[in-house]
Amino acid sequence: MTYEKHSARLLNDYPAISDLRAKAKKRIPHVAWEYLETGTGEEELIRRNIQAMQEVTFLPRFLKGDLKPDISTTIFGKKYNAPFGIAPVGLTGLMWPKAEVILAKTAKKYSIPFCLSTVATETPETVGPHMGDMGWFQLYPPRELELTSQFLDRAKQAGFHTLVITADVPVPSRRERTKRAGLQMPPKITPKLIWQGIKNPEWSMATLRRGLPRLRTVESYSTFKSMMSVGAFTRDKLGGNLTWDYCKEIREIWDGPIIVKGILHPKDAEKAIEIGLDGIVVSNHGGRQFDGAIASIEALPEITRLAKGKIKILFDSGIRTGLDIMRALALGADFVLCGRAFIYGVAALGKYGSDHTAEILMGDLINNMVQLGVESIDDLPKGLMNSF
Ligand SMILES: Cc1cc2nc3c(=O)[nH]c(=O)nc-3n(C[C@H](O)[C@H](O)[C@H](O)COP(=O)(O)O)c2cc1C
Repeated sequence: MTYEKHSARLLNDYPAISDLRAKAKKRIPHVAWEYLETGTGEEELIRRNIQAMQEVTFLPRFLKGDLKPDISTTIFGKKYNAPFGIAPVGLTGLMWPKAEVILAKTAKKYSIPFCLSTVATETPETVGPHMGDMGWFQLYPPRELELTSQFLDRAKQAGFHTLVITADVPVPSRRERTKRAGLQMPPKITPKLIWQGIKNPEWSMATLRRGLPRLRTVESYSTFKSMMSVGAFTRDKLGGNLTWDYCKEIREIWDGPIIVKGILHPKDAEKAIEIGLDGIVVSNHGGRQFDGAIASIEALPEITRLAKGKIKILFDSGIRTGLDIMRALALGADFVLCGRAFIYGVAALGKYGSDHTAEILMGDLINNMVQLGVESIDDLPKGLMNSF
């Protein structure tokens, strides 16, 4: 059965990402919901990301006849059907088993990029055959460069052509809510999880078929190399030592586009340009790392002023509608990534979920462009009324 058979009903029952969010919350265990939704500290930044987004407003023009916006976008020499893609999300299978494969299939079908996380629950080799040429790979940089080249070789062999290096995890986040929910790395069967599983039978059946989520890309290194548990391995061996020099070394061994993700300071954007990277993602990791940071959308105008045209500017954190995508593009982003919006979809509707998220976001973006009176993404900044 395909998504198309259900799309008319689903678009009525779940017309917005907020509907998918509400459904996801009911359909997955509490611990998985808390992992997906959580920020850190008092979670001010999650709220700020959303509020600041809503402050970006437009002044529409009308009487332009029948407008047909073109949202296809070329970035790093590749044409995509939309100016947005699927952000890397770790421990993905906790929210829905084999979520990565579902997301990869959506990416291929809609011709939008899918970025697989280093700490995803499926490997590049498993996901590769499903994603067509839409694959980007996200790297939590291992401390040992030797391990980095092993990860990159595997990603390249599996067909991933664009590399995203995550910069904004110098230390693991405290993520207090996930601790309260009892999340263990890797997840273990506890009485709490069994009880939550009973309350969420569809999730439990799917999890029984696939097995408990594991960090399948990194686990082989942890047991084989150092007999560390996977949790300790990701904490001690991945990340924490990233520098611009390290990025330069990666530049030597990765022959495709390289994007550094988690940039908020204009000077870091300049540094990325200076060392010859191809893109930056203006992002605060969806508010999950540093509760004191500025909203990602607030960081965008100044970075656009300094970096536009010198490096590709991608944006994420707080995208919940096609209108939000339009806001980021109007403020200078060349491309947008969406994290939770896609995972809400998969958690809510399983194999139809990420197609449905793509439909909602594309439809809403096109609708709002007509409403504003523009047919092309390049014209969006002219419609801006208020920003920061
Ligand atoms: C559950 C979850 C797990 C994430 N895991 C990763 C990850 O493994 N690597 C990474 O670079 N970013 C990760 N992120 C951050 C996303 O790539 C992205 O920056 C963020 O979700 C954007 O904010 P949004 O959720 O409001 O769209 C994760 C985000 C969420 C919600």
